[in-house]
Amino acid sequence: MTRTVYVNGEYLPETEAKVSIFDRGFLMADAVYEVTSVLDGKLIDFEGHAVRLKRSLDELQMAEPCSKDELLEIHRKLVELNGITEGLVYLQVTRGSDGDRDFVFPSAGTKPTLVLFTQNKPGLADNPAAKKGAKIISIEDIRWGRRDIKTVQLLYPSMGKMMAKAAGCDDAWMIEDGYVTEGTSNNAYIVKNGNIVTRPLSNDILHGITRKAVLRMAAEAQMEVEERLFTIDEAKEADEAFTTSASAFVMPVVEIDGVALGDGTPGPIAKRLREIYLDESRKAAI
Ligand code: PDD
Repeated sequence: MTRTVYVNGEYLPETEAKVSIFDRGFLMADAVYEVTSVLDGKLIDFEGHAVRLKRSLDELQMAEPCSKDELLEIHRKLVELNGITEGLVYLQVTRGSDGDRDFVFPSAGTKPTLVLFTQNKPGLADNPAAKKGAKIISIEDIRWGRRDIKTVQLLYPSMGKMMAKAAGCDDAWMIEDGYVTEGTSNNAYIVKNGNIVTRPLSNDILHGITRKAVLRMAAEAQMEVEERLFTIDEAKEADEAFTTSASAFVMPVVEIDGVALGDGTPGPIAKRLREIYLDESRKAAI
């Protein structure tokens, strides 16, 4: 089925949507993005994604393409036009282009490029992968130093995912100075003696919207949460582990570098948090 996508003010069939070859998103990865999930045809945590988008744009002195209300309207219209019940809305803003390649930013007043499209994912909430749990490998984190900005520089995370696949696993966790930073496209957690441990917010990791919600819900459920660094060796000795992201919610991790965690099946805290997150998010969806 041909999707209807959004490009700079227009709703078009995906085959007719065009962006300039001089666009800085294409030439320089000079672009930021958001991925918002859709359950029951409604947006999960739109507000969180809109706030983080604004922060990413501000950090890069990039102009806002439109207001938050307009963004919400575009998201909703695409969900409706494409009949999405469960899936994702991808949004990308680039610095646009002056019609040539230059390391210098284009002149003020250059229009940013705004692109959105939907991804239909029936069964996203009831994902069988979450029942099995993910197997991960660890790899060195060689990304740039501003991982808190959600840029489209995703080549290394994409390579990491391919390294995981080549090893017969599902994903990779990245390690810097001996400590786990995050997954290729998710935040990372371990659980030991009922205590949930995750890396504190800094420029080293993306400030996950799902992370924020899950930590709040864990605290509300009287679970112990500790925000501190942890090593991959500590992770291998954990009782359980999991990741969070807008595209996979709470995903249990059952194996790290070939070492099974606990009994090698999804742990009770990860399973409970996934249930709570899905329940609460559905209720608050707009
Ligand atoms: N990725 N860390 C990284 C490096 C990510 O790319 C993501 C999200 C997260 C989790 O953030 P959030 O909870 O806001 O989705 C953490 C998205 C889903 C993606 O690239 O598709």
